[in-house]
Formats: sequence, structure tokens, C-alpha cells
Amino acid sequence: MISVVLKAARPRVLLLMPLLIAGCVTTAGLDPGAAPLSDDVRIALVDWARWAQNAHNIQPWRVELDPVRADRFELYVDTDRLLPETDPPARQITISLGNFLAVVEARAAQLGLRAEIDLLPDGEFDLADIRDVSVAEVTLVAATRPDTELSAAAAPDAITRPTVKYHYRRAALDDELVRRIEGYSTDLISIAVVSDPAEVDWLNKLSVEAFALEMSTEATLMETYDATRMTRRQRREDPYGLSFPGNFGPMMLRIVEISSALFPQSPEAFGRTGTSIFTKSMEEIGIYVLVTTADNSRRTQLETGMRLQALWMELQSAGYVALPNSQALQEYPEMTPLYERIHARYVSTGETIQMLLAVAEPRSWRRRHSPRLEVEDIVVTR
Ligand SMILES: Cc1cc2nc3c(=O)[nH]c(=O)nc-3n(C[C@H](O)[C@H](O)[C@H](O)COP(=O)(O)O)c2cc1C
Repeated sequence: MISVVLKAARPRVLLLMPLLIAGCVTTAGLDPGAAPLSDDVRIALVDWARWAQNAHNIQPWRVELDPVRADRFELYVDTDRLLPETDPPARQITISLGNFLAVVEARAAQLGLRAEIDLLPDGEFDLADIRDVSVAEVTLVAATRPDTELSAAAAPDAITRPTVKYHYRRAALDDELVRRIEGYSTDLISIAVVSDPAEVDWLNKLSVEAFALEMSTEATLMETYDATRMTRRQRREDPYGLSFPGNFGPMMLRIVEISSALFPQSPEAFGRTGTSIFTKSMEEIGIYVLVTTADNSRRTQLETGMRLQALWMELQSAGYVALPNSQALQEYPEMTPLYERIHARYVSTGETIQMLLAVAEPRSWRRRHSPRLEVEDIVVTR
């Protein structure tokens, strides 16, 4: 994002070198798996699940521990953290809660447990009652044998590798991996790997157009700008939302964040530099994973998130990054023509494209995760 800012800042940045180097060796917050294992297995699971993929890193989850049964908890939406402009129907928010549950499921399996996940025990919800509805009731039981379900078997340890958000080389997936990824499909969810060059080219162009539109539409630009933690201090104070640790290696990250603190960008400049970085990174995308569903119920959105997280962990374990390109799938009025264009090309009437994942090989894994809320910010006892 930041080349413009950097040019202006270069002489001052040289003076700041000792500070930058010192900043690189200190780490703010805990990485996935770094916390000591809690005696309460529910806490241990939430401690992993909070690193799940989620839209805008907004972390829309709230967990209520059952005060009587130590093997049970419920998941709710935290309505303090939604994306009303970018995601008006809270579809991506709901998918993100599915991502969270997939890590719970996979990590429980690693610990010799089976997470019985009862989705929407009180039924489907509308936006109006999103605050009070139980998204899932989770009960932990001893597993009698290893879980061979693809999604439960996915390696949650893969989340110790951050999502690399910039600077790739083109990837090729072997037939076995394609088979496994497409094997995450269910009766309602279809997962297809797209590698035909003409289709990839079409998707890359549409993704760039949609990104530019999001960054030039005032409401969505401002929502993203406000949700972006430009500096290390902002990351520490509000450890949710977008930030740059996935974009840059440690030294460059320090430079970018110090520059942003000294010379903050206007929203318009932020939108322009973001679009230019995104456009460049799309040149290196040669594969997509397209996730489509037969209906668009909340249950299907949650199940989509669960599959998405599992296949994301699978790709990360295999050394790839899977980067959601959500922009053309967003449901605010300005995006409608692009939304309709991609739906007309890939699905029949009534079906929904839930996710478009760009797959690539990172040029470097020296990246860090976006920040996360602490477990105690997420968990309450009923
Ligand atoms: C439903 C959904 C939509 C997402 N959309 C985008 C997107 O459009 N662009 C993007 O760069 N990342 C997208 N992401 C990825 C999130 O930004 C990422 O999971 C989050 O910032 C955490 O990043 P981390 O891996 O650095 O911790 C999406 C994730 C989910 C689950």
C-alpha cells in the first residue's frame, strides 16, 4: 500500500533504522499455539479457533461457556463487530463463524475428542435477530476412533503459518491435491478448482475491477479504512480488523507502520495504493477455488465456512496460500453489476457463489498474522 508514503519518508526512515531493528525483534501479542494449554479444554479450543480466517479480520464471535457442563459451549455473533457496508446481509460474517467452528472441530480431533456441532439449534436467523441467536451448540465427547472426515482431519497447525497477502509466484496443484480440495464438496456445496488460463484471466480482471470499486465507493472505502490498523500501536489497542503483517516481512512492516504513523494517508490515497498493490498481486494468480452453494440459508453459509477453513488449512499445510477475493461477491448496491456478471458465468439461478479463493505460492513465509482478540475478550460464562 505504501510506496507513495515510503518515497516521501525515505530520508527520515534512514534515521529511524536503530528503532526499526529494535522493533523487529519484539513481538506484540501471542502467535497461534503459543499460549499454555488451558485446563479447560473449551478455552484451549477457543484459543486456536480465534485464529480462524474471517472477513476483514473483524472476529465476529462470542462464546458462552456452559456453567454446569464443562464439555459444552455455545457460539454467538458479536454484533459489536459487523461489516454493514461491505457485507450488508452478514453473509461473510456467518461464513466466518463457520471458519471458527472448523478449527474447533479439527483441533478437538487432534486432542482425541469429537466436537458435536449442532448448528442453529433455535433455527435460521434474520439480520434483525442476529444478536440473540445461538449459531451453534458444541458438545465435546471422547472420540472412539480417529475422525476421518476430511474437514475434521485437516491440520489446524497450518494456522501457525500466516496468510501471506502479497508477493507470490504462480502455483500449480497436483491432481491428488485437486482431488482432495474438490472432495470438500457436499450435497449443497460445490467446490471446484479453476485452472483454465482463460477463466483465470477473466477472474483476475473481475477481481481487480471489483477491488477498485470497493475502494472508490465511499461507504465501503470508509468501512475498510476505519477497520485498518495502520500502526503497531493501533494493532495492539484494537486487535481486530485489517493490518499489514501479512503483506510485508518484519523490517518492511516496521518501516510501513512507522511511516503510516508519521504521515497518515487520506482514505482516497489509501484506496488508490491498495488498488495498485492488489492489481499487481493478481498478476501472479494462476489458480482459483470457486465455492458455490445450492441455497443461501444461514446453515449453508456456516457449513461453507467450515469447509472453507478446512480446505484453507489443507492448502496452507501443502505450502500454498489461499486468498479470498470477496469483492465481486459483496452485496451492496454499487457492486450489483459485477455480482451478477460472475453469477451469470458460473452458476444457475438460485445458486450462490460464496467464495472465490486465489491460490498461489508465497515468495516468502516471513509474515505474521493479523492481530487477534484475547480469549477473555471472546469468552463469557453464562
Ligand atoms: C468470508 C471471508 C472473506 C474474506 N475476504 C477477503 C478479501 O476479500 N480479501 C482478503 O485479502 N482477505 C479476505 N479474507 C481473509 C481475511 O482478511 C483474513 O482471514 C483475516 O484478515 C485474518 O488474516 P490473518 O491470516 O493474517 O490472521 C476473507 C476471509 C473470510 C473468512
